[in-house]
Amino acid sequence: MYTTVISEYFNDWFYIDALAGSGVSVYGDADESFLGSPLLAAKNAAEPFTKMYFIEQDKENAAALEKRLDVAFNGSDLQITPPECGYEVYVGDANKKLQQVTRNMWRVAKRDGKANFNHLTFIDNQGLNLNWGGLEDLEDSTTGDYLINFPTSNVLRASGHKGSENAMVDYYGGDRWRSANGKEELLEAYTTRLSGLGKTEQVVTNIDSGTKNYQYDMIYATRKTRGGSDYINAIEYINRFVEAVDGADVEDMLQILRGDQMTMESFLPKQDEDDPQSKLVEFHD
Ligand SMILES: C[S@@+](CC[C@H](N)C(=O)[O-])C[C@H]1O[C@@H](n2cnc3c(N)ncnc32)[C@H](O)[C@@H]1O
Repeated sequence: MYTTVISEYFNDWFYIDALAGSGVSVYGDADESFLGSPLLAAKNAAEPFTKMYFIEQDKENAAALEKRLDVAFNGSDLQITPPECGYEVYVGDANKKLQQVTRNMWRVAKRDGKANFNHLTFIDNQGLNLNWGGLEDLEDSTTGDYLINFPTSNVLRASGHKGSENAMVDYYGGDRWRSANGKEELLEAYTTRLSGLGKTEQVVTNIDSGTKNYQYDMIYATRKTRGGSDYINAIEYINRFVEAVDGADVEDMLQILRGDQMTMESFLPKQDEDDPQSKLVEFHD
């Protein structure tokens, strides 16, 4: 959706996964795995990104991600078109690495003269991971759209914990969270900060597992454009879908997926017993 719309207005469009993970996410005790955000972004880009950037602090995750990206872009059955100018995995703290990403985007965008680019940045916080300063560094010299996992339960917990005071100040880039009362106001204090950065067009989707005491809000934030944001309607549609389902519905969906997987597997060529490492198995492991 993003690449289809944005490619009409810009020469280059970049993807930044600031807290990228290992490329696969594992669900529950069943040890089921799903494609993670780096691979979903690559796979679903209708107009392939000019370049994709992935930042991951954990060395093992980063190494696994490198391998999975290599398989995904170079000859897997997924057939993902590689970005025109490639991709990069940065191993380290996103709060620092985003500056390198910014410099690189400018360099790439200037390769054919005048730079005219936008970026889609996904910030999948688990805790207070990406600080305000990191985000500001990126936004200072570039224009982008943001999808931010605001870890509501964790922020609420941290706001009432003396030992987390510095982390909260870093996360919010100041003291605005101090006067917030409860999770709604904590969220509002953050979205108000985003508006201050010019990202006044926002769609917030609350994700509540319904079974565990775990909640987060996915914030989509962009700037208001004269013609309106072409894809904000689509984001709102997704918001209605996601907010209508709960943990029990997700279980039902997984059952269907499991059924589908079996159906799909029945179409796959039979495997040699001695050669269990099919491309798919290799990819998921
Ligand atoms: C929620 S996971 C990402 C999941 C991923 N979006 C997906 O869909 O598969 C967050 C990741 O961020 C990494 N991380 C946490 N703090 C970080 C930081 N300051 N800089 C870079 N990576 C960080 C963690 O190691 C973890 O792998």
